[in-house]
Amino acid sequence: MSTAGKGGTITIDGRGIPFEAGQTVMDAALAAGIYIPHLCHRPGLTPHGSCRLCTVEVGGRNAAACTLPASDGMRVDSDTVALNAVRKTITQMLFVEGNHLCPGCEKSGDCTLQAVAYHLGMLDGHFPQFYPRREVDASHPDIVLDRDRCILCELCVRASREIDGKNVFAISGRGIHASLIVNAPSGRLVDTDIEVTDLAAHICPVGAILLKGHGFEVPIGQRTFDIHRVSETDRERLPLVRPDHVDDE
Ligand code: SF4
Ligand code: FES
Repeated sequence: MSTAGKGGTITIDGRGIPFEAGQTVMDAALAAGIYIPHLCHRPGLTPHGSCRLCTVEVGGRNAAACTLPASDGMRVDSDTVALNAVRKTITQMLFVEGNHLCPGCEKSGDCTLQAVAYHLGMLDGHFPQFYPRREVDASHPDIVLDRDRCILCELCVRASREIDGKNVFAISGRGIHASLIVNAPSGRLVDTDIEVTDLAAHICPVGAILLKGHGFEVPIGQRTFDIHRVSETDRERLPLVRPDHVDDE
């Protein structure tokens, strides 16, 4: 008999945890304080299943925890040597595919990609750098879009659509030709209806969407991942809302 649509218990790395009807393995893990590495997932937004960092093993098969519905009795392996090796390889590929120059990036210390790399013990990119040529859009008075660092997670796409009630961003193209585009005939951010108070302007896990005029407000050493481990799941259980951004002036 199918157990879909009912709550129950699943086991992650040998630990039994409850889940509610409709929850995914990721939902249940986060609710129980179990960290499964992830980049394209934020509670409160529709799961996307694109980064594959949350790959877990269930019944001898790999699946993305963020899109896999929990079902009663499911046994999940996550924190294994083999899965963490795959996650590290994915992270290395993300680093070499873009231009992630951490020492010169304003997001350093607040960047989830960087924090995940530390978590997984990544010491280098391993693969040859692509050094792609990507367009920077500094047309907006308050927000800069640096595609060099975009990992195509679509968090901004979903935040704009699902929380801000707009449709500012989209992904165009496929494979290594995929890129983030904005919804304006000119193709420039200034001609969209994005505002600095939009969640989409704040949700980027890397330094691809940044606010102008706020660089290095928080000193290195006092930033999110200088103080918190990426595995502290309680940081992610806060409801997603449009932030009250207040300028200094
Ligand atoms: Fe993700 Fe940031 Fe790229 Fe948007 S700009 S797709 S949030 S990495
Ligand atoms: Fe599950 Fe990205 S977090 S695929």
